Amino acid sequence: MLRAMTVAALVLAAGRGERLGQALPKAYVPLAGRALILHSIEKLASVPELEAIVPVIGASDRSRFDALGLGAQPKLQPPVVGGAERQDSVGAGLAALPPDVQWVAVHDAARCLVAPEAVSRVIAAAKAHGAALLAAPVRDTIKRAREGRVVETPPREECLAAQTPQVFRVDLLREALAKAAAEGFTGTDDAQLVERLGVAVHVVLGDASNWKITLPQDLAAAEAWLRENGEEGDGIG
Ligand code: CTP
Ligand code: MG
Repeated sequence: MLRAMTVAALVLAAGRGERLGQALPKAYVPLAGRALILHSIEKLASVPELEAIVPVIGASDRSRFDALGLGAQPKLQPPVVGGAERQDSVGAGLAALPPDVQWVAVHDAARCLVAPEAVSRVIAAAKAHGAALLAAPVRDTIKRAREGRVVETPPREECLAAQTPQVFRVDLLREALAKAAAEGFTGTDDAQLVERLGVAVHVVLGDASNWKITLPQDLAAAEAWLRENGEEGDGIG
């Protein structure tokens, strides 16, 4: 039985990875010989504050998931089947959390290079403020544009690229998802749904290396990063 105040992670892996363009669903594509989802679960499992890890997987990926052979990982909970949109997958994961879980860290399986120390920092910030996300400064000037015309140039020092994990009080994220569903709103991250409640989301600066494997070149860059950082070949799985 999980203790009260438990912090659980949802590892979102129910997407297909259209932009990566491989036959395998993205979470099962190998990086340095091991599936992306394995890297992500391993990173989260080494975060002391995280007590439970709930994988959210595609409906047709159960046998692929089982074939990863993750049975020995003590924090791992049974996988939950996700939905058509990322937001649906978050909802499915939340619905499966044991009732005494009070904090949830939502993480993209595709951000498999996340630093465990950064995850700890964002959990601490969420516990202090109710909601927090990892984000990195942007290199380029950001333009907001519509129909080919610039609408706004926000000051670059105020612009951040949102990453995961994003950590919330479970009841807050539940409320945010319910409001979004009631209003037919689909966001591109979870913090946005909480912001729509009028709740401030605390920013924790993370590393640029916590990029999301999205395009084929991201995979090559991640392989190089692992080689340079001496992380190839260790860990579970
Ligand atoms: N995700 C999910 N359920 C969905 C869609 C996405 O759990 N219905 C997960 C993905 O598995 C991924 C994370 O959300 O780990 C971030 O999404 P993204 O990078 O867009 O992954 P995909 O949707 O798989 O990729 P693409 O958009 O290129 O198809
Ligand atoms: Mg997607």
